[in-house]
Amino acid sequence: MPSPKGYSARQIRLHWLVAVLIVLQFVLNEPMSAAWEMVENGQTPGFNWLVTSHVLGGVLVLIFALWRLVLRQTRGVPAPPETEPAALRRLGHLGHLALYALMIALPLSGLAAWFGGIAAAAEAHEAMKAALMALVALHVLAALWHQFWLKDGLMARMKRPLD
Ligand code: HEM
Ligand code: HEM
Repeated sequence: MPSPKGYSARQIRLHWLVAVLIVLQFVLNEPMSAAWEMVENGQTPGFNWLVTSHVLGGVLVLIFALWRLVLRQTRGVPAPPETEPAALRRLGHLGHLALYALMIALPLSGLAAWFGGIAAAAEAHEAMKAALMALVALHVLAALWHQFWLKDGLMARMKRPLD
């Protein structure tokens, strides 16, 4: 895999677009949960554009995550800062891979629940959303730690493209 000096403009745009989409998925989940409860009670929920936007938003997260993984392989991503201890570099790498895994598995479980009527998939969806929330919180804390403690300019890598 190539190792460029920074992220490309496209990688940065996709990162922030997905971040906004994921926040919206969390903030606007209530109508989706209510619709699913109706399905579980044998009722048919009526059309609700917030339910549709949960499905579309989730599918976009899935597509963008796959696109980012392709870019990761073809264009590469910058190596972690030299100043970071080796153990933390590995942890950061694992954390990023786990974020990618959840950005793929979470929408897939949602699709299996909603279109396949699979109750176990809905349970997995709920468990994975909690895992994603925890990981994103850790991710943001790590970014703040780099910014204000290590002062290694890591945040700038997700702001300014280096093609
Ligand atoms: C306010 C929220 C966020 C901040 C401040 C932030 C910050 C950053 C920064 C600075 C990097 C670059 C790390 C590096 O250069 O090694 C990064 C990478 C990354 N972020 Fe975020 N992020 C946020 C939200 C999210 C969300 C919601 C997700 C998705 C669930 C996410 C997923 C990722 C992934 C997977 C990478 C690794 C990219 C790669 O190297 O392939 N981030 N983030
Ligand atoms: C990254 C993308 C996604 C995120 C972050 C996400 C997040 C969430 C959250 C926070 C809930 C509320 C769970 C609760 O009540 O505790 C939920 C419920 C639900 N979502 Fe998603 N979702 C995503 C993608 C999708 C997709 C693509 C579908 C496909 C139709 C979907 C279908 C559902 C269903 C059926 C429920 C209700 C079942 C349940 O509560 O587990 N989701 N989602």
